[in-house]
Amino acid sequence: MASTTPLHQNQAAYRTPPRVMAITSGKGGVGKTNIVTNLAYALARKGKKVLVLDADLNLANVDVLLGLTPQFNLHHVFTGEKRLRDILVDAPGGFQILPASSGIMEMAELSEEQKLYFLEEIADLGHAIDIMLIDTAAGINNTVIYFTLAAQERVIVLTPEPTSLTDAYAMVKVLSSQHGVKRFRILVNSAQTEKEALAVYRQLTLVADRFLDSLSMDYMGFIPYDAKLPQSVRAQRLVTDLSPRSTVSGKFFALADQILREKATNLSDGNIKFFWQGLFNL
Ligand SMILES: Nc1ncnc2c1ncn2[C@@H]1O[C@H](COP(=O)(O)OP(=O)(O)OP(=O)(O)O)[C@@H](O)[C@H]1O
Ligand SMILES: [Mg+2]
Repeated sequence: MASTTPLHQNQAAYRTPPRVMAITSGKGGVGKTNIVTNLAYALARKGKKVLVLDADLNLANVDVLLGLTPQFNLHHVFTGEKRLRDILVDAPGGFQILPASSGIMEMAELSEEQKLYFLEEIADLGHAIDIMLIDTAAGINNTVIYFTLAAQERVIVLTPEPTSLTDAYAMVKVLSSQHGVKRFRILVNSAQTEKEALAVYRQLTLVADRFLDSLSMDYMGFIPYDAKLPQSVRAQRLVTDLSPRSTVSGKFFALADQILREKATNLSDGNIKFFWQGLFNL
């Protein structure tokens, strides 16, 4: 290797590029933030370096859920006040949160110089991460589409509520027909049984098959309804942390195992720097 190659590039060559997974939904309140954070916790407990990007500008976001109050966010990186690694917040269980807040809206307006600086910051961070999970807002808006398109894997969360199904369908329709996304992973939350979850999944594939061409919608699994989860939310703790032996926590740990058994979707842009480059249209 040429001696002029920066050290971080040499190191990066020895690591598998991070997987980037966006968790989104048509309808709000279906459990995205709880899924992202508990999955991050479970993956971190299994020794993985996990970064959660909080890309939701609304109030019910990652830090509120965990009772954290990040002082800085992406905005401070863009203004040059902070290094990216200095704004990361440590969460229980050992994963990290990248608070985005209003920084997200600024992304589109960064100068070329700011973008390049930011990409260097990301490259610096990239090889310290195995998996990046993105918690998006609900519904079809520009930031949601932005992050969902840039991720390698798109997980759509829905619940057995009929409105959740129609909104998930609307989301899939926009992402596939207007943005060319052809592959989705479907995660059913708050189902009473696996049978119910599979029925919800089947309903979604039925409506989607009738109207949309050549889509692949893989069933990723289900998370059961469990009263322990809202209890932990009220305590501003993760259910996997507060009640690790509950049914719902067991499912989160099993889902983490399943994710680790899978091979990351083999895309040429499977790299955290390319993820951000895609976002910045560079
Ligand atoms: N598996 C579950 N069992 C019981 N309750 C659940 C479950 N999943 C989510 N909930 C309830 O739903 C609430 C909303 O969850 P969460 O905030 O994770 O949803 P969200 O999709 O991130 O919402 P938003 O779209 O507003 O960001 C939780 O506070 C909890 O009370
Ligand atoms: Mg949320």
